[in-house]
Amino acid sequence: MNRVGFVGWRGMVGSVLMDRMRAEGDFDLIAEPVFFTTSQQGEPGPDVGRGAQPLRDARDLDALAAMDAIVTCQGGDYTSAVFEPLRARGWRGYWIDAASTLRMHSDSTIVLDPVNLDVIEQALADGKRDFIGGNCTVSLMLMAVGELLRRDLVEWISAMTYQAASGAGARNMRELLLQMGALRDGVAGLLADERSSILDIDRQVTATMRGDDFPDQLFTAPLAGSLIPWIDKQLDNGQSREEWKGQSETNKILGRLDVPVPIDGTCVRIGAMRCHSQGLTIKLRQDVPLDEIEAMIAASNDWVRVVPNQRERTVAELSPAAVTGTLSVPVGRLRKMNMGPTYLSAFTVGDQLLWGAAEPLRRMLRLLLG
Ligand code: HSE
Repeated sequence: MNRVGFVGWRGMVGSVLMDRMRAEGDFDLIAEPVFFTTSQQGEPGPDVGRGAQPLRDARDLDALAAMDAIVTCQGGDYTSAVFEPLRARGWRGYWIDAASTLRMHSDSTIVLDPVNLDVIEQALADGKRDFIGGNCTVSLMLMAVGELLRRDLVEWISAMTYQAASGAGARNMRELLLQMGALRDGVAGLLADERSSILDIDRQVTATMRGDDFPDQLFTAPLAGSLIPWIDKQLDNGQSREEWKGQSETNKILGRLDVPVPIDGTCVRIGAMRCHSQGLTIKLRQDVPLDEIEAMIAASNDWVRVVPNQRERTVAELSPAAVTGTLSVPVGRLRKMNMGPTYLSAFTVGDQLLWGAAEPLRRMLRLLLG
């Protein structure tokens, strides 16, 4: 692999990708990394060990076509504008993309190699060249319990999500913090007075979050001190698009679109920064003993970690605060439910920017780099 082009490397997902590539020494394996930009052509690019080169124009199809592989975290609009024209002119390089635009295309493969290396290897053997990162909740759910699906032990899954602000974008993370600050600032005097009434404090918090000045331009509703049970566009069937992705992407990742496992649930935005959490109800095809389930999950990849279903361990280890910034994917609260021995409950947490976005792309490129 000689020339690899990077687009959208300065944004939030792109920056996480760059950090991980530096940490893993990936740039040492690339003869010529080329950095593109949509706005700062000619400015010096990042130094990844060979000195800073001038940034190239990310809309220059000739420059893009000279790449053996392109990795883009630039977003769906960029993919829509550039991908087809680039392929139309006969470009045969590898396209590795974080955006959802191409995920369900028949020619593309959704990459999550700890779960679907077999699907990826088959795609490479078939000459496929479009490798797309999955939706974050889907990838994180599969890192946690994908082994049960791979063994065909699952009849259906209900996934109730608790999704972080980062999934909506970097600016939304800032807005969440502004909202938190506004709520606190609005009651600073009352909070400082230990004799003040908690109901007075609550009334003031509610007034602040319902006030015209509350900073909710991006989320369009309070997230701090509240939640938003809708993520992404509205579909005609009552699902949000985020909810629709659960079944369609999971089954594509596992290479079983012909015999899909039903997956559905309600996707909810909560006031976490960058970790998505999910409460899963898993209907098993048979009564698999809990210790066997735990062992299967624990052995399925190097990053999943079974947290014993005990109060102290759960509170300490199974939260966005504990997981953020790490590649660890803990899964806990594993137990059989009152509905019967084939109903498994689970709760999992994962960093939405790492396994949910950058890491599968990095690892796909690494596979190509050999
Ligand atoms: N759609 C996800 C979210 C982000 O809004 O949380 C990444 O797939």
